[in-house]
Amino acid sequence: MVTLRLVSSVSLTLLTAADPSSSIFVKLTLTPFSSKRMAHSIARATLGLTQPNKIDPPKISFAAKDADLVEWKGDLLAVGVTEKDLVRDDNSKFKNSLLQKLDSKLQGLLSEASAEEEFTGKTGQSTVLRLPGLGAKRVGLIGLGSGASATSTYRILGEATAAAAKSARATNVAITLASPEGIPAELKLTSASAIASGAVLGTFDDIRFKSEPKQATLKSVDIIGLGTGPEIEKKLKYAGDVCSGVILGKQLVNAPANVLTPGVLAGEAEKIASEHSDVLSAKILNVEQCIELKMGSYLGVAAASTNPPHFIHLCYKPPNGEVKNKLALVGKGLTFDSGGYNIKTGPGCSIELMKVDMGGAAAVLGAAKALGQIKPAGVEVHFIVAACENMISGTGMRPGDIITASNGKTIEVNNTDAEGRLTLADALVYACNQGVGKIVDLATLTGACIVALGPSIAGVFTPSDELAKEVVGASEAGGEKLWRMPLEESYWESMKSGVADMVNTGGRQGGSITAALFLKQFVDEKVQWMHIDMAGPVYSDKKKGATGFGISTLVEWVLKNSS
Ligand code: BES
Ligand code: MN
Ligand code: ZN
Repeated sequence: MVTLRLVSSVSLTLLTAADPSSSIFVKLTLTPFSSKRMAHSIARATLGLTQPNKIDPPKISFAAKDADLVEWKGDLLAVGVTEKDLVRDDNSKFKNSLLQKLDSKLQGLLSEASAEEEFTGKTGQSTVLRLPGLGAKRVGLIGLGSGASATSTYRILGEATAAAAKSARATNVAITLASPEGIPAELKLTSASAIASGAVLGTFDDIRFKSEPKQATLKSVDIIGLGTGPEIEKKLKYAGDVCSGVILGKQLVNAPANVLTPGVLAGEAEKIASEHSDVLSAKILNVEQCIELKMGSYLGVAAASTNPPHFIHLCYKPPNGEVKNKLALVGKGLTFDSGGYNIKTGPGCSIELMKVDMGGAAAVLGAAKALGQIKPAGVEVHFIVAACENMISGTGMRPGDIITASNGKTIEVNNTDAEGRLTLADALVYACNQGVGKIVDLATLTGACIVALGPSIAGVFTPSDELAKEVVGASEAGGEKLWRMPLEESYWESMKSGVADMVNTGGRQGGSITAALFLKQFVDEKVQWMHIDMAGPVYSDKKKGATGFGISTLVEWVLKNSS
């Protein structure tokens, strides 16, 4: 006998897979629809985002360096050191004046211990020492590498300090740099706010699904020697707004597919809009409305699931003044990707990780949350997600089926696991119909992109050099890694179908490029468009959790387009 989950309210017969030779047909008894609904709502009420963790970020303050750091009182004094700061003189004493001062107060123990621990100042490397003799209980050295002043380096400093605070159960920390004079004046602000973001994000732990959660201990962070005053406070407010978006993004991606269904995702989007209803509005389309818009490609993917699809459209309009730029952010929103009939099988297919397949949607909604607080002028932004699940059932799309997208183009589905592009096709057509000048889509689209760029770099594809420059610039400010990939038109050859306008997958070679070329078929030529494949960076295997990738870049990019 087989135990079966219900797929529909009609009666079914099924051949047991357990004994195919015996030809026994098992009649299934089906639980009524209403109890099925209830199972979902129970999951939501007990586990879901309806019970968010209390997010209590540490309080950040800035102090000038006039206070003597040797006397700073607290749990942990973290010092960001470059490889150069660690240079020693002939007597193996530090040449750097702050390290020298700390070391002499500690009778040379800092120098000795850091040498013994082989601390070389490599980016993110850290060593925490509990030594008597300072105002601080512990002193930590955190590596900044070559000290090239990149946002990501300073964010890592904040994150590593938060991690050190976590293992020491510290409640207050101070962060400073061994040589703050190494940072050009105009970069001091951004470095300080990157440290602050790192500390806030590093303190956040997603404990919603733990039965005995450990609360974060860190309550306050003093950032010393990078400036004080209203300008830095303004930058801190911005960093806090972005962080709240990143934290939401991480929570959405971490939530499993039994909790975060397409309907729950749409509910979260509506909540963001209602929390900032002065600037954000929400429209959620149901299946019937999507049928009306002829979204055959998106609905084809959604067809197998008992959880109905929800098409999400949020719109940001500035509180006042004229709109100069209209933008759209489109995110892939597969709350689960089983592969469909081309089911994900075999080692390395990562089917158990496929709750992350709405990472693009999480980036778009996280950006909406941040922008709802920042309220930039002169720019209108549409946030679009065609949310659904890619499942298997008798109502599902078969390999070989031909479907028609909302721009009238026909697609022969030669692989049901290339579903993201099918949902994005209709989302991109919809975005173009909003009259926007520029579109950026984000998607956990291909394993091929992970093969090409590894786990921490996203691939970007765009015919527009101008948009490439804008977004890559924004990603540098946001501290995220993007790499431009070619949209090689000659590869379209492999996407031709004998019977329809195109197939949905080419060969294994250049898989992320043919995916991008497929998306291009659904974008108006007058619109500047970029596709970001973030299958690698959406999730960190090392941290066993979502990264919140894309949000800081998207917010920076929207601000570049504001006035
Ligand atoms: N969601 C996957 C891509 C993915 C892989 C995301 C790993 C995150 C981590 C996507 O829908 C997919 O299945 N892509 C296929 C495309 C293939 C069938 C052409 C892939 O990459 O194997
Ligand atoms: Mn897939
Ligand atoms: Zn997918």
